[in-house]
Amino acid sequence: MAIILGIESSCDETSASVCINGKVINNDIATQDIHEQYGGVVPELASREHQRNIVPIVSHVLENAQISLENLDGIAYTRGPGLLGALLVGSSFAKSMAQALNIPTIPVHHMKAHVLAHFIDDPKPQFPFICLTVSGGHTQLLLVKSATEMVILGQTKDDAVGEAFDKSAKLLGLPYPGGPMIDKLASKGDRNKFQFAKSDVPALDYSFSGIKTSILYFLRKEVKKNENFVEENLNDLAASIQFTLIEMLMFKLKLAAKQEGINQIAIAGGVSANLGLRKRLTEEANKSDWEIFIPDFQYCTDNAGMIAISGHFLYENQQFGLLTDSPLPRMPF
Ligand code: KG4
Ligand code: ZN
Repeated sequence: MAIILGIESSCDETSASVCINGKVINNDIATQDIHEQYGGVVPELASREHQRNIVPIVSHVLENAQISLENLDGIAYTRGPGLLGALLVGSSFAKSMAQALNIPTIPVHHMKAHVLAHFIDDPKPQFPFICLTVSGGHTQLLLVKSATEMVILGQTKDDAVGEAFDKSAKLLGLPYPGGPMIDKLASKGDRNKFQFAKSDVPALDYSFSGIKTSILYFLRKEVKKNENFVEENLNDLAASIQFTLIEMLMFKLKLAAKQEGINQIAIAGGVSANLGLRKRLTEEANKSDWEIFIPDFQYCTDNAGMIAISGHFLYENQQFGLLTDSPLPRMPF
Protein backbone atom coordinates (compact mmCIF):
# COMPACT_ATOMS: atom_id res chain seq x y z
CA MET A 1 0.00 0.00 0.00
CA ALA A 2 1.36 3.38 -0.92
CA ILE A 3 0.75 7.03 -1.66
CA ILE A 4 1.62 7.85 -5.25
CA LEU A 5 1.74 11.19 -7.07
CA GLY A 6 0.98 10.88 -10.80
CA ILE A 7 2.11 13.39 -13.43
CA GLU A 8 1.02 13.50 -17.08
CA SER A 9 2.61 15.86 -19.64
CA SER A 10 2.83 13.91 -22.91
CA CYS A 11 0.91 16.28 -25.17
CA ASP A 12 -1.18 19.37 -24.43
CA GLU A 13 -2.61 18.55 -21.03
CA THR A 14 -0.71 19.15 -17.79
CA SER A 15 -2.22 16.94 -15.13
CA ALA A 16 -1.50 15.68 -11.62
CA SER A 17 -3.25 13.20 -9.37
CA VAL A 18 -2.83 11.54 -5.99
CA CYS A 19 -3.53 7.84 -5.51
CA ILE A 20 -3.73 6.52 -1.94
CA ASN A 21 -3.67 2.74 -1.50
CA GLY A 22 -5.08 2.15 -4.99
CA LYS A 23 -7.77 4.83 -4.75
CA VAL A 24 -7.46 7.88 -6.98
CA ILE A 25 -8.30 10.88 -4.79
CA ASN A 26 -8.21 13.67 -7.36
CA ASN A 27 -7.29 14.44 -10.96
CA ASP A 28 -6.50 18.05 -11.90
CA ILE A 29 -6.10 18.84 -15.59
CA ALA A 30 -4.89 22.11 -17.15
CA THR A 31 -5.91 22.07 -20.81
CA GLN A 32 -3.85 24.27 -23.10
CA ASP A 33 -6.22 26.37 -25.19
CA ILE A 34 -3.32 28.21 -26.85
CA HIS A 35 -3.07 25.56 -29.61
CA GLU A 36 -6.59 26.16 -30.90
CA GLN A 37 -5.53 29.20 -32.95
CA TYR A 38 -2.87 27.11 -34.75
CA GLY A 39 -5.17 24.21 -35.68
CA GLY A 40 -3.03 21.63 -33.84
CA VAL A 41 -0.59 21.20 -30.98
CA VAL A 42 2.57 23.35 -31.31
CA PRO A 43 5.23 21.33 -29.43
CA GLU A 44 7.33 24.30 -28.24
CA LEU A 45 4.29 26.11 -26.89
CA ALA A 46 3.12 22.90 -25.18
CA SER A 47 6.44 22.60 -23.31
CA ARG A 48 6.24 26.20 -22.13
CA GLU A 49 2.67 25.74 -20.93
CA HIS A 50 3.66 22.58 -19.04
CA GLN A 51 6.45 24.55 -17.33
CA ARG A 52 3.97 27.20 -16.32
CA ASN A 53 1.33 24.75 -15.06
CA ILE A 54 3.20 21.92 -13.40
CA VAL A 55 4.10 23.48 -10.03
CA PRO A 56 0.64 24.93 -9.27
CA ILE A 57 -1.12 21.72 -10.38
CA VAL A 58 1.06 19.41 -8.30
CA SER A 59 0.79 21.72 -5.26
CA HIS A 60 -2.95 21.82 -5.66
CA VAL A 61 -3.53 18.04 -5.79
CA LEU A 62 -1.27 17.46 -2.78
CA GLU A 63 -3.06 20.13 -0.80
CA ASN A 64 -6.46 18.84 -1.90
CA ALA A 65 -5.57 15.28 -0.83
CA GLN A 66 -4.12 16.66 2.42
CA ILE A 67 -0.82 14.99 1.69
CA SER A 68 2.50 16.53 2.63
CA LEU A 69 5.61 15.80 0.60
CA GLU A 70 7.02 13.50 3.29
CA ASN A 71 3.95 11.24 2.96
CA LEU A 72 4.66 10.36 -0.69
CA ASP A 73 6.01 6.87 -1.44
CA GLY A 74 6.64 7.28 -5.17
CA ILE A 75 6.21 9.59 -8.16
CA ALA A 76 4.74 8.14 -11.35
CA TYR A 77 5.19 10.09 -14.57
CA THR A 78 4.59 9.56 -18.28
CA ARG A 79 7.90 8.51 -19.84
CA GLY A 80 6.41 8.16 -23.33
CA PRO A 81 5.12 8.05 -26.00
CA GLY A 82 4.50 11.73 -26.60
CA LEU A 83 6.14 15.02 -27.54
CA LEU A 84 9.79 15.12 -26.42
CA GLY A 85 9.72 18.65 -24.99
CA ALA A 86 6.44 18.04 -23.21
CA LEU A 87 7.65 14.74 -21.72
CA LEU A 88 10.89 16.42 -20.62
CA VAL A 89 9.01 18.86 -18.39
CA GLY A 90 7.07 16.12 -16.55
CA SER A 91 9.96 13.67 -16.32
CA SER A 92 12.52 16.24 -15.12
CA PHE A 93 10.08 17.51 -12.54
CA ALA A 94 9.23 14.00 -11.31
CA LYS A 95 12.85 12.89 -11.14
CA SER A 96 14.03 16.02 -9.29
CA MET A 97 11.21 15.81 -6.80
CA ALA A 98 11.77 12.09 -6.21
CA GLN A 99 15.48 12.65 -5.70
CA ALA A 100 14.87 15.46 -3.24
CA LEU A 101 12.42 13.30 -1.27
CA ASN A 102 14.54 10.16 -1.61
CA ILE A 103 11.64 8.11 -3.02
CA PRO A 104 11.44 6.09 -6.26
CA THR A 105 10.25 7.32 -9.63
CA ILE A 106 7.79 5.13 -11.53
CA PRO A 107 8.03 5.64 -15.31
CA VAL A 108 4.68 4.91 -16.99
CA HIS A 109 3.77 4.03 -20.60
CA HIS A 110 1.03 6.47 -21.63
CA MET A 111 -0.97 3.97 -23.71
CA LYS A 112 -0.89 1.29 -21.02
CA ALA A 113 -2.06 3.95 -18.57
CA HIS A 114 -5.10 4.67 -20.76
CA VAL A 115 -6.06 1.00 -20.28
CA LEU A 116 -5.45 1.06 -16.54
CA ALA A 117 -7.83 4.03 -16.21
CA HIS A 118 -10.42 1.24 -15.93
CA PHE A 119 -9.13 0.49 -12.45
CA ILE A 120 -9.94 3.92 -11.07
CA ASP A 121 -13.70 3.50 -10.69
CA ASP A 122 -16.11 0.57 -10.40
CA PRO A 123 -17.07 -1.62 -12.15
CA LYS A 124 -13.57 -2.86 -12.94
CA PRO A 125 -12.89 -5.46 -15.65
CA GLN A 126 -11.42 -8.82 -14.74
CA PHE A 127 -8.32 -10.20 -16.43
CA PRO A 128 -8.07 -11.17 -19.20
CA PHE A 129 -10.10 -8.59 -21.12
CA ILE A 130 -9.91 -6.92 -24.52
CA CYS A 131 -9.31 -3.19 -24.72
CA LEU A 132 -9.75 -1.03 -27.80
CA THR A 133 -7.46 1.93 -27.11
CA VAL A 134 -8.27 4.86 -29.34
CA SER A 135 -6.40 8.14 -29.06
CA GLY A 136 -4.89 10.94 -31.11
CA GLY A 137 -1.68 9.04 -31.75
CA HIS A 138 -2.62 5.35 -31.41
CA THR A 139 -5.30 2.82 -32.24
CA GLN A 140 -4.72 -0.55 -30.62
CA LEU A 141 -6.61 -3.74 -29.91
CA LEU A 142 -5.10 -5.23 -26.76
CA LEU A 143 -5.36 -8.44 -24.84
CA VAL A 144 -4.95 -7.27 -21.25
CA LYS A 145 -3.67 -10.23 -19.21
CA SER A 146 -2.79 -8.27 -16.08
CA ALA A 147 -2.03 -4.68 -15.03
CA THR A 148 1.50 -5.09 -16.33
CA GLU A 149 1.04 -7.63 -19.13
CA MET A 150 -0.67 -6.47 -22.31
CA VAL A 151 -0.40 -7.99 -25.78
CA ILE A 152 -1.11 -6.06 -29.00
CA LEU A 153 -3.59 -8.06 -31.10
CA GLY A 154 -3.83 -5.41 -33.79
CA GLN A 155 -3.07 -1.75 -34.40
CA THR A 156 -3.23 0.95 -37.01
CA LYS A 157 -0.79 0.75 -39.89
CA ASP A 158 -0.95 4.50 -40.50
CA ASP A 159 -3.14 7.22 -38.93
CA ALA A 160 -4.76 6.82 -35.52
CA VAL A 161 -8.54 7.04 -35.41
CA GLY A 162 -8.31 10.27 -33.35
CA GLU A 163 -6.21 11.71 -36.15
CA ALA A 164 -8.85 10.62 -38.68
CA PHE A 165 -11.48 12.47 -36.61
CA ASP A 166 -9.29 15.58 -36.34
CA LYS A 167 -8.28 15.62 -40.02
CA SER A 168 -11.87 15.06 -41.19
CA ALA A 169 -12.98 17.92 -38.94
CA LYS A 170 -10.33 20.15 -40.51
CA LEU A 171 -11.69 19.32 -43.97
CA LEU A 172 -15.11 20.44 -42.73
CA GLY A 173 -13.56 23.72 -41.54
CA LEU A 174 -14.00 22.88 -37.84
CA PRO A 175 -11.51 24.08 -35.19
CA TYR A 176 -8.93 21.84 -33.44
CA PRO A 177 -9.41 19.40 -31.78
CA GLY A 178 -12.04 18.26 -34.21
CA GLY A 179 -13.03 14.94 -32.63
CA PRO A 180 -15.35 16.41 -29.98
CA MET A 181 -16.82 18.83 -32.58
CA ILE A 182 -17.66 15.99 -34.99
CA ASP A 183 -19.22 14.10 -32.07
CA LYS A 184 -21.44 17.08 -31.19
CA LEU A 185 -22.60 17.76 -34.75
CA ALA A 186 -23.08 14.05 -35.50
CA SER A 187 -25.80 13.77 -32.86
CA LYS A 188 -27.94 16.09 -35.00
CA GLY A 189 -27.21 14.46 -38.37
CA ASP A 190 -28.20 11.50 -40.54
CA ARG A 191 -25.40 8.91 -40.39
CA ASN A 192 -26.58 7.17 -43.57
CA LYS A 193 -26.68 10.30 -45.73
CA PHE A 194 -23.19 9.92 -47.22
CA GLN A 195 -21.06 6.83 -47.75
CA PHE A 196 -17.27 6.74 -47.47
CA ALA A 197 -15.09 3.81 -48.45
CA LYS A 198 -13.85 1.82 -45.47
CA SER A 199 -10.25 0.78 -46.01
CA ASP A 200 -9.29 -2.63 -44.78
CA VAL A 201 -6.02 -4.34 -43.89
CA PRO A 202 -5.48 -7.98 -42.93
CA ALA A 203 -6.02 -9.55 -39.51
CA LEU A 204 -6.80 -7.30 -36.57
CA ASP A 205 -4.95 -4.24 -37.84
CA TYR A 206 -6.49 -0.95 -38.89
CA SER A 207 -5.87 1.70 -41.54
CA PHE A 208 -7.40 5.16 -41.30
CA SER A 209 -5.36 7.21 -43.74
CA GLY A 210 -7.56 6.38 -46.75
CA ILE A 211 -10.75 7.81 -45.31
CA LYS A 212 -9.55 11.39 -45.19
CA THR A 213 -8.56 11.19 -48.86
CA SER A 214 -11.94 9.75 -49.70
CA ILE A 215 -13.64 12.60 -47.79
CA LEU A 216 -11.39 15.19 -49.43
CA TYR A 217 -12.23 14.02 -52.99
CA PHE A 218 -15.92 13.74 -52.17
CA LEU A 219 -16.05 17.28 -50.76
CA ARG A 220 -14.07 18.72 -53.71
CA LYS A 221 -16.56 17.19 -56.13
CA GLU A 222 -19.63 18.40 -54.22
CA VAL A 223 -18.30 21.89 -53.51
CA LYS A 224 -17.71 22.35 -57.26
CA LYS A 225 -21.45 21.83 -57.76
CA ASN A 226 -22.54 23.83 -54.72
CA GLU A 227 -20.12 26.08 -52.88
CA ASN A 228 -22.26 25.96 -49.71
CA PHE A 229 -22.34 22.15 -49.66
CA VAL A 230 -20.36 21.75 -46.44
CA GLU A 231 -22.31 24.37 -44.45
CA GLU A 232 -25.65 23.03 -45.70
CA ASN A 233 -24.80 19.40 -44.83
CA LEU A 234 -22.51 19.83 -41.84
CA ASN A 235 -24.46 17.66 -39.37
CA ASP A 236 -25.05 14.88 -41.89
CA LEU A 237 -21.40 14.94 -42.97
CA ALA A 238 -20.21 14.72 -39.34
CA ALA A 239 -22.67 11.90 -38.62
CA SER A 240 -21.68 9.93 -41.74
CA ILE A 241 -17.93 10.33 -41.12
CA GLN A 242 -18.31 9.33 -37.47
CA PHE A 243 -20.47 6.34 -38.39
CA THR A 244 -17.87 5.11 -40.91
CA LEU A 245 -15.03 5.39 -38.37
CA ILE A 246 -17.03 3.66 -35.63
CA GLU A 247 -18.01 0.80 -37.95
CA MET A 248 -14.35 0.28 -38.83
CA LEU A 249 -13.42 0.17 -35.13
CA MET A 250 -16.27 -2.18 -34.26
CA PHE A 251 -15.60 -4.62 -37.09
CA LYS A 252 -12.13 -5.55 -35.82
CA LEU A 253 -13.19 -5.36 -32.18
CA LYS A 254 -15.84 -8.01 -32.83
CA LEU A 255 -13.27 -10.16 -34.64
CA ALA A 256 -10.85 -9.85 -31.72
CA ALA A 257 -13.50 -10.82 -29.17
CA LYS A 258 -14.40 -13.87 -31.25
CA GLN A 259 -10.79 -14.87 -31.89
CA GLU A 260 -9.86 -14.67 -28.19
CA GLY A 261 -13.16 -16.03 -26.92
CA ILE A 262 -13.41 -13.12 -24.49
CA ASN A 263 -16.58 -11.19 -23.72
CA GLN A 264 -15.18 -8.57 -21.35
CA ILE A 265 -14.65 -5.60 -23.62
CA ALA A 266 -13.25 -2.19 -22.70
CA ILE A 267 -12.56 1.02 -24.61
CA ALA A 268 -10.01 3.63 -23.59
CA GLY A 269 -8.26 6.80 -24.82
CA GLY A 270 -9.53 10.15 -26.06
CA VAL A 271 -11.88 8.77 -28.72
CA SER A 272 -13.61 6.58 -26.12
CA ALA A 273 -15.31 9.84 -25.05
CA ASN A 274 -17.19 9.73 -28.38
CA LEU A 275 -20.91 9.38 -27.71
CA GLY A 276 -21.52 7.51 -30.95
CA LEU A 277 -18.88 4.90 -30.10
CA ARG A 278 -20.16 4.54 -26.53
CA LYS A 279 -23.70 4.01 -27.82
CA ARG A 280 -22.61 1.57 -30.53
CA LEU A 281 -20.64 -0.46 -28.00
CA THR A 282 -23.65 -0.61 -25.70
CA GLU A 283 -25.82 -1.88 -28.58
CA GLU A 284 -23.25 -4.54 -29.43
CA ALA A 285 -23.03 -5.59 -25.78
CA ASN A 286 -26.73 -6.39 -25.79
CA LYS A 287 -26.46 -8.27 -29.08
CA SER A 288 -23.27 -10.23 -28.39
CA ASP A 289 -23.61 -10.71 -24.65
CA TRP A 290 -20.54 -8.62 -23.90
CA GLU A 291 -19.76 -7.12 -20.55
CA ILE A 292 -18.51 -3.66 -21.46
CA PHE A 293 -16.36 -1.11 -19.65
CA ILE A 294 -16.41 2.55 -20.64
CA PRO A 295 -14.33 5.06 -18.66
CA ASP A 296 -15.77 8.16 -17.06
CA PHE A 297 -15.24 11.15 -19.42
CA GLN A 298 -12.46 12.69 -17.30
CA TYR A 299 -10.44 9.46 -17.67
CA CYS A 300 -10.88 9.09 -21.46
CA THR A 301 -8.71 11.98 -22.63
CA ASP A 302 -5.26 12.59 -21.17
CA ASN A 303 -5.25 12.73 -17.39
CA ALA A 304 -2.93 11.99 -14.46
CA GLY A 305 -5.46 9.77 -12.69
CA MET A 306 -4.48 6.99 -15.10
CA ILE A 307 -0.77 7.65 -14.45
CA ALA A 308 -1.28 7.55 -10.68
CA ILE A 309 -3.23 4.26 -10.79
CA SER A 310 -0.56 2.79 -13.10
CA GLY A 311 1.99 3.96 -10.55
CA HIS A 312 0.09 2.07 -7.89
CA PHE A 313 0.30 -1.23 -9.82
CA LEU A 314 3.93 -0.75 -10.81
CA TYR A 315 4.85 0.20 -7.23
CA GLU A 316 3.35 -3.08 -6.04
CA ASN A 317 5.56 -4.85 -8.59
CA GLN A 318 8.57 -2.78 -7.52
CA GLN A 319 9.01 -1.54 -11.09
CA PHE A 320 10.93 1.64 -10.38
CA GLY A 321 12.86 4.00 -12.63
CA LEU A 322 16.34 5.46 -12.58
CA LEU A 323 17.45 9.06 -12.57
CA THR A 324 19.14 8.37 -15.90
CA ASP A 325 15.83 7.42 -17.59
CA SER A 326 15.24 9.84 -20.44
CA PRO A 327 11.82 10.48 -21.99
CA LEU A 328 10.94 8.17 -24.88
CA PRO A 329 8.79 9.96 -27.50
CA ARG A 330 8.32 6.64 -29.32
CA MET A 331 8.39 4.42 -26.24
CA PRO A 332 8.03 0.76 -27.26
CA PHE A 333 4.90 -0.93 -25.95
O1 KG4 B 1 -6.00 10.17 -25.50
P1 KG4 B 1 -5.99 11.57 -25.98
O2 KG4 B 1 -6.55 12.64 -25.08
O3 KG4 B 1 -4.55 12.03 -26.36
C1 KG4 B 1 -3.63 11.16 -26.96
O4 KG4 B 1 -3.02 10.35 -26.22
O5 KG4 B 1 -3.54 11.24 -28.20
O6 KG4 B 1 -6.78 11.58 -27.38
C2 KG4 B 1 -6.94 12.76 -28.11
C3 KG4 B 1 -7.79 12.44 -29.34
C4 KG4 B 1 -7.93 13.61 -30.30
O7 KG4 B 1 -7.71 13.11 -31.60
C5 KG4 B 1 -9.37 14.05 -30.10
O8 KG4 B 1 -9.94 14.64 -31.26
C6 KG4 B 1 -10.04 12.73 -29.77
O9 KG4 B 1 -9.13 12.08 -28.92
N1 KG4 B 1 -11.33 12.91 -29.09
C7 KG4 B 1 -12.52 12.59 -29.63
C8 KG4 B 1 -13.51 12.96 -28.69
N2 KG4 B 1 -12.88 13.49 -27.60
C9 KG4 B 1 -11.54 13.46 -27.86
N3 KG4 B 1 -12.82 12.03 -30.82
C10 KG4 B 1 -14.12 11.81 -31.08
N4 KG4 B 1 -15.13 12.14 -30.25
C11 KG4 B 1 -14.87 12.71 -29.04
N5 KG4 B 1 -15.86 13.02 -28.22
ZN1 ZN C 1 -3.59 9.82 -24.45
